[in-house]
Amino acid sequence: MRIAVIGSGYVGLVASACFAEIGHQVICVDNDLNRISALNGGAALIHEDFLQELLDRHRGTNLAFCSSLADAVRESLVIVIAVGTPAAATGEADLSYVESVAREIARSADGYKLIVEKSTVPVYTNAWVWRCLELNRCGPGEFDVVSNPEFLREGTAVTDFLYPDRIVVGVSGPRAAGIMREIYAPLLNGSYGRHAGAVSRPGGMEIAPLYVETSAQSAELIKHASNAFLAMKISFINAVANIAEAVGADIEDVCKGIGSDSRIGSRFLQAGIGYGGSCFPKDVAAFQCVAMECGCELRLLDEVRRINEDQVRRFLIKVRGAVWTLKNKRLGVLGLAFKSGTDDVRESPAMQIVQALVREGCQIAAFDPAARERARSVLGETIQYARDPYAAAKGADALLILTEWKEFAELDLPRIRELLNYPIVLDGRNLYSREDMASAGLNYYSVGRAPVEISNRMPVQHAGAPVGYLRRLGRFESVRGSE
Ligand SMILES: NC(=O)c1ccc[n+]([C@@H]2O[C@H](COP(=O)([O-])OP(=O)(O)OC[C@H]3O[C@@H](n4cnc5c(N)ncnc54)[C@H](O)[C@@H]3O)[C@@H](O)[C@H]2O)c1
Repeated sequence: MRIAVIGSGYVGLVASACFAEIGHQVICVDNDLNRISALNGGAALIHEDFLQELLDRHRGTNLAFCSSLADAVRESLVIVIAVGTPAAATGEADLSYVESVAREIARSADGYKLIVEKSTVPVYTNAWVWRCLELNRCGPGEFDVVSNPEFLREGTAVTDFLYPDRIVVGVSGPRAAGIMREIYAPLLNGSYGRHAGAVSRPGGMEIAPLYVETSAQSAELIKHASNAFLAMKISFINAVANIAEAVGADIEDVCKGIGSDSRIGSRFLQAGIGYGGSCFPKDVAAFQCVAMECGCELRLLDEVRRINEDQVRRFLIKVRGAVWTLKNKRLGVLGLAFKSGTDDVRESPAMQIVQALVREGCQIAAFDPAARERARSVLGETIQYARDPYAAAKGADALLILTEWKEFAELDLPRIRELLNYPIVLDGRNLYSREDMASAGLNYYSVGRAPVEISNRMPVQHAGAPVGYLRRLGRFESVRGSE
């Protein structure tokens, strides 16, 4: 199948590489000329396991990069829209990129085209794209528009794409439905996974993805509702973690107990400094706008957002409680990406914490295995960039763990203890057991668990003292709003 993918970001580039990997002829288009020339020059541009390998395998054979949307449209039967849908000031999704691509497709099409909406969009966007094409003189029978939301997660994007739990296709006619089934056939019938040289399936077991063929509105709703539910799960466990801290319970044990109920499940039940990234914050807000518009206000999500914003503030207060004053404190920071496995720092809670601490006058030395350059483009030289975790810890008054990279869970703790100016670790991702930290001689503050305090002279102000704690929350009121 000849496929044009519009947008070479996290979704567009991964989709292009993976469509090529399952046997299609793909042209990936971006209007950012620097991206296209870097991709043509062999760069992968984003940090994702297997991506470089797939790009190297297919570039120049069944994968090409270009900046001309018109050329790509003329050469392809299927046009996949994977451009950004950022939040507008009102919280609604800004669909201007989608509209401009739809308009350009209409002007360039020279025969039947199947337009596949892969960007995350509010319900009825499919109908708007349809209308936009008609207004731009595409006649009936010259195109179909399908909603095919993407569920890949940054950090595991390639394997998520090649071995999805489900493929959702919102489609209204047999011709489009047939083409979509053909595109995904190698994933649906398992033939891709059995291919020599295929990227291995994580977990090994062969399970066919569920193919959900539905209306466009249902497909659009599935995507927004999925992200809102996942954000809700994270905020729920974070709210429980705050209660656990206040009553002396251990959130890790609580999670085990809750998550072992198969109706609930253990995934997305990790307490921490909250969710971030380019999807959950904007998709939750956009979903609320959709709900409001159709008269079904979703106030539940106000609370999800409030709890999430509070996690960053609470962590900052914990830092202050552990090191006393902040001005001129040297802090080592592990992790800047919004989650492990990616270089994406958009809406990263780690970045928000670092920015707030810089504003308080802290000197930060941060290490991230992948996000250094993207973080630098936001933070500039306001912080130092360490070459490894130990360099970040050296001479620091405390070490902060802000992203759940696997390597941060395997630190040489006695060495960290040696390097730190004071033996203090604040863990926003609960990567360590309290026992391990105690035996390494480290004072340890995590989320939803009692602190480990080696010296009984250490200052203590954690969530166990709710009244003073809540009063101090005011100090970091503007953490997220100020960016
Ligand atoms: N990032 C994720 O994990 C993820 C997962 C699922 C769905 N999504 C959704 O997928 C969409 C894309 O997300 P992303 O993270 O890849 O965005 P991104 O910002 O990384 O990439 C978007 C790309 O589109 C390009 N672009 C914009 N307008 C264009 C045009 N007119 N012609 C050609 N190229 C154009 C931009 O230059 C950019 O490279 C969003 O709607 C997002 O919500 C993202």
